Amino acid sequence: MTALTLSTSAASGLRADAIVVGVAKGAQGPVVAPGAEAVDKAYDGRLADVLQTLGASGAEGEVTKLPAPSGFKAPVVVAVGLGALPEKDEAHTAESLRRAAGAAARALAGSKKAAFALPLADPADAGAVGEGALLGAYSFDAYKENGTAKGGKAAGNGKAPLAEIVLLGAKPRDKAYKAAVERAVAVTEELNRARDLINTPPNDLTPEAFAAVAQAAAKEHGIKVQVLDEKALAKGGYGGILGVGAGSAAAPRLVKLSYTSSKAKKHLALVGKGITYDSGGISLKPAGHNETMKCDMSGAAAVFAAVVAAARLGLEVNVTGWLALAENMPSGSATRPGDVLRMYSGKTVEVLNTDAEGRLVLADALWKASEEKPDAIVDVATLTGAMVLALGNRTFGVMANDDAFRTAIVEAAEEVGEDSWPMPLPAHLRKGMDSPTADIANMGERMGGGLVAGLFLQEFVGEGITWAHLDIAGPAFNEQGPFGYTPKGGTGSAVRTLVRLAELTAAGDLG
Ligand code: BES
Ligand code: MN
Ligand code: ZN
Repeated sequence: MTALTLSTSAASGLRADAIVVGVAKGAQGPVVAPGAEAVDKAYDGRLADVLQTLGASGAEGEVTKLPAPSGFKAPVVVAVGLGALPEKDEAHTAESLRRAAGAAARALAGSKKAAFALPLADPADAGAVGEGALLGAYSFDAYKENGTAKGGKAAGNGKAPLAEIVLLGAKPRDKAYKAAVERAVAVTEELNRARDLINTPPNDLTPEAFAAVAQAAAKEHGIKVQVLDEKALAKGGYGGILGVGAGSAAAPRLVKLSYTSSKAKKHLALVGKGITYDSGGISLKPAGHNETMKCDMSGAAAVFAAVVAAARLGLEVNVTGWLALAENMPSGSATRPGDVLRMYSGKTVEVLNTDAEGRLVLADALWKASEEKPDAIVDVATLTGAMVLALGNRTFGVMANDDAFRTAIVEAAEEVGEDSWPMPLPAHLRKGMDSPTADIANMGERMGGGLVAGLFLQEFVGEGITWAHLDIAGPAFNEQGPFGYTPKGGTGSAVRTLVRLAELTAAGDLG
């Protein structure tokens, strides 16, 4: 795990492999960002000229490596692009710092230690640089012959992540700076653990294995944990979770994680879709659509990470996490299209398409979560391909039964640097799910498929409970190249938004 420390050392005197500085894109060329004054001075004030000659512009994500000036203990300077130069008297946004720090950390994979001298206007900026750097310094190499997980040195890309990050320009003895950095460490460690879970192949991460990981973490952080196995699920009447898991040799689980604070005034419930592999079931997905479906437990991973982060931060709010875990497989015991399931709520569902399985496991977990009458429920799920078509692969959709709540979530996401967009729940789409046999079908009109899924979930939210649904099917898994602090593979989408929602709930500003 990468270490993060604060230092008041001068950039020249710090022993490290590299010093990271920021460079913004100005109208006339690159502009060296605040924080890099000492470095620029050591280049006789010509760092911007040098960078321009080297072809740098300051564009977001651009990385330029150059030899450090004489007298520096670190041999290399890494200039990272921050994007557009802010207006006069304005600072770089927290998200531009996060992305730049992440890009720099990725460029430094294989190095041991780097000092970050990026512009820090306030403690929140220090937190953002810390977050970006720690999220950029990620690799998943547990399955590589010489991976760091096995005590070796090679990572997924052949290089181990940057091992030590030193923040320059922050005040190590200032409470606000310390708190911001501690928060960054807690959130990013849990987020990176969510990424590990998402990246773990589905033959190893079964529902049982996921539940065991949650149990161990809960123990470590003083979180109460309860695991319902297939017998307990049958006894409790969880027809949705059991129906989805029926075709798999790996039995389903429902995990409840309860973090409680003695100072809590509010209770937030988080529900995550945890399909450890989505083959589609009997409505089998064609080749080309199933290779990355180990990512279908990203919602549960995000909920898990957020509950643990809330506990580590000691937030003054009760947070209950529900992980609805099952593997969706075809077999002689699998649920068929045409089967009717009796759900935990008592409602019956005609399964018309076994590939619309996420809503079935979520329905049981949502109804169960509702029984505790929390102040609000937020579910997170890689639920529909339709949401990916609508919003692309970097933005999640937010639906809710309360307009103000939906707006608050989109704003909270923006605050922490996650892209999201409000989506409606048009009531007329409900009738497409009418079933001649059961109370509802698990599929409706194809058009607006993401909203249809949201309307289905809404049927399983307890009366009078504020609820929102985050469809992260697009941003949960990055199949393209890495960018900013986002690696290839599992991204940890929604973790930071959920942690922010818990903080806002604790402050009485939400739900
Ligand atoms: N897990 C998929 C959704 C998905 C698609 C996640 C792409 C990530 C990337 C989900 O279970 C699914 O298969 N949904 C179907 C629903 C349809 C059968 C009503 C879909 O979106 O095609
Ligand atoms: Mn599916
Ligand atoms: Zn799925």
